[in-house]
Amino acid sequence: MIQLIRGFKDILPGEVELWQKIEAVVAALFQDFGFHEIRIPIMEKTALFARSIGEHTDIVEKEMYTFPDRKGDLITLRPEATASVVRAYIQHKLYAKEAIQKFYTIGPMFRRERPQKGRYRQFYQINAEVFGVAAPQIDAQLIIMLSTLLDRLEVKNTTVHINSLGCFECRPGFKAALKEFLGECQDQLCLDCLRRMEKNPLRVLDCKVPDCKKAMEKAPVLLDYLCSPCQEHFKQVQKLLNIFKISYIINQYLVRGLDYYNRTTFEIQTSALGAQSAVAGGGRYDGLVKTLGGSDQPAIGFAIGFDRLVEIIRQNSEIQKAGPDLFIAALGETAKTKAFDWLINFNLAGLKTEMEFSQKSLKTQMKRANRIGAKQVLIIGENELARERVILRDMSTKEQIMIPISNLVEQVLAQFGLKGEN
Ligand code: HAM
Repeated sequence: MIQLIRGFKDILPGEVELWQKIEAVVAALFQDFGFHEIRIPIMEKTALFARSIGEHTDIVEKEMYTFPDRKGDLITLRPEATASVVRAYIQHKLYAKEAIQKFYTIGPMFRRERPQKGRYRQFYQINAEVFGVAAPQIDAQLIIMLSTLLDRLEVKNTTVHINSLGCFECRPGFKAALKEFLGECQDQLCLDCLRRMEKNPLRVLDCKVPDCKKAMEKAPVLLDYLCSPCQEHFKQVQKLLNIFKISYIINQYLVRGLDYYNRTTFEIQTSALGAQSAVAGGGRYDGLVKTLGGSDQPAIGFAIGFDRLVEIIRQNSEIQKAGPDLFIAALGETAKTKAFDWLINFNLAGLKTEMEFSQKSLKTQMKRANRIGAKQVLIIGENELARERVILRDMSTKEQIMIPISNLVEQVLAQFGLKGEN
């Protein structure tokens, strides 16, 4: 039997209802905050991701699904959505339509990481991106929106971590100091960090290897190197979060795994998922629109790990697959022919209805109705046909009423508060 690709998964009925519920809560909340949905392709030219995420990041160096298409052009299954949203924003000149643009998008991403709980090779993200606002208010507004979403979904035990990565003015000073420090403690660093040291030294700060973590305790602190506009921006973000009673931790090691960030970065972390602690992450990326060929536009956004969100919520609640409103248990050919006609009529009228097509005993049909959670069962056999009346049984109260066959569709629909076509 051909099985799933490792790290990929099916989302089956029974679980998909929770995904749908979350999607509905997200759409309602994000739209209240002024976001519009955008849908972007699953594949892009490889250069788009290399240039935006950064050549020396783990994602670009080792995790992308990249291959030549039939003409030899290099294409990549998207490892994240921000680069594509920026590309669409530039390509369709969306900045010319309105100075401030807010988008959200939900869909699958692909990274060839080592699969484990909370980490997949195809996973889903809920993304929000804002273009055209430099003010710290938008940083706070996004974090408030994200916290509100988690509250509405009753996700508990999460912590907001924030940091500032400075800007193109002040970060080089910090990088130089960090490089010098790393040079002095090389013997304590893991092989990955020795490699990162030259190309991407900031990443050493969030290495999870215990020896590296210990060495980083004495590392220079980014916040000490911020220029005054960056300091002021970060202070304002904190002030606004305090006003709206969002609790947060300033985490100087929060540098994020993608290169496009500057100033505010944030993550929502949880202890519910073992090693995979981040449910959501984001930050400012003021230089990316320009890097990808657009005008100089400030931007900020975040992505929620949808799979991780579902896993946390599933630990707290049981979502039931909704059963049909009605099941038709018909016995004998004549009854089944009639029942099929009613079935289609009910389906068309918006009454969720199922029936048994093969010849099964009444007992077996009632068992199936019960198993799939049907609310009512319409029973029709030889006797009912002869008397021109069928039984409608309420599966929870066990009450039964008789319904005349003439005009049956309208009468059953009326029982459910629905109207027929004529
Ligand atoms: P990211 O931190 O790489 O950021 O991913 C965001 C979230 O996606 C993570 O916090 C995690 O919950 C989830 N995630 C990442 N990789 C996996 C995986 N292999 N399996 C399951 N879940 C995963 C970004 O992607 C940025 N584009 C976020 C952003 C938007 N920044 C600005 N705008």
